[in-house]
Amino acid sequence: MVQLPQILLNPGDVCLVPDPGYPDYWSGVALAKAEMSFLPLKEDNRFLPDYEAISEEDRRRAKLIFLNYPNNPTSATAPLSFYQETVEFAQRNGIVVASDFAYGAIGFDGERPVSFLQAEGAKDVGIEFYTLSKTYNMAGWRVGFALGNAEIISMINLLQDYIYVSLFGGIQSAAAAALTSPQDCVDELVARYESRRNAFYDTLEHIGGRRVPRRAPSLAGCLCRPAILQPPLPICCCVRPR
Ligand SMILES: Cc1ncc(COP(=O)(O)O)c(C=O)c1O
Repeated sequence: MVQLPQILLNPGDVCLVPDPGYPDYWSGVALAKAEMSFLPLKEDNRFLPDYEAISEEDRRRAKLIFLNYPNNPTSATAPLSFYQETVEFAQRNGIVVASDFAYGAIGFDGERPVSFLQAEGAKDVGIEFYTLSKTYNMAGWRVGFALGNAEIISMINLLQDYIYVSLFGGIQSAAAAALTSPQDCVDELVARYESRRNAFYDTLEHIGGRRVPRRAPSLAGCLCRPAILQPPLPICCCVRPR
């Protein structure tokens, strides 16, 4: 994800990034000496960016957009209709879409997160990133993959070839085993996280005395309603002040 802006952006180009969002996107944009334009993710728009609100100039200069659903930190998920809208937006404006699907395996309340690549035409305009660190508890192993537009994937391959040469064979074998084995461990992981999510919200509701909408995955337990919080909270959470 950090390499993609270096592959696609020149100095002066704009990258559209979610706000709040995962800060690694910013690093790639900085290394490419490009500029960022933030897309506010607001609760009243279900934490999805509003493409209509993007200025004419940013649309013209933007060459890349990062999206991340299930979202860190808001924990929102994106419906297929949003990705369809994204494909149209990208086609109209000549923008590449980079979907960060890091939490794609983790859906709560029976919800299965939607992949950007499910949208018609997605592969014409973008790619999707996936990491094994969340799904298989392989954080720090630095193993993941990208799927989608063949031309973009081949550009990533070329840069990877020069910069990294390869990934240690043992890690590649472990990744292949994780991906091709029965996925019961993933179901167990999701069930454990869901029960922790429920315990977290139960506690908040107990403290605040009112019901809080239970969102989908957020490993850190993200809260966008700080008004109901009363410290000290015995749990790590990320609070976005209003
Ligand atoms: C939204 C998001 N994308 C990507 C990553 C990258 O994961 P990794 O570097 O472990 O592959 C993370 C990790 O926390 C994340 O939260």
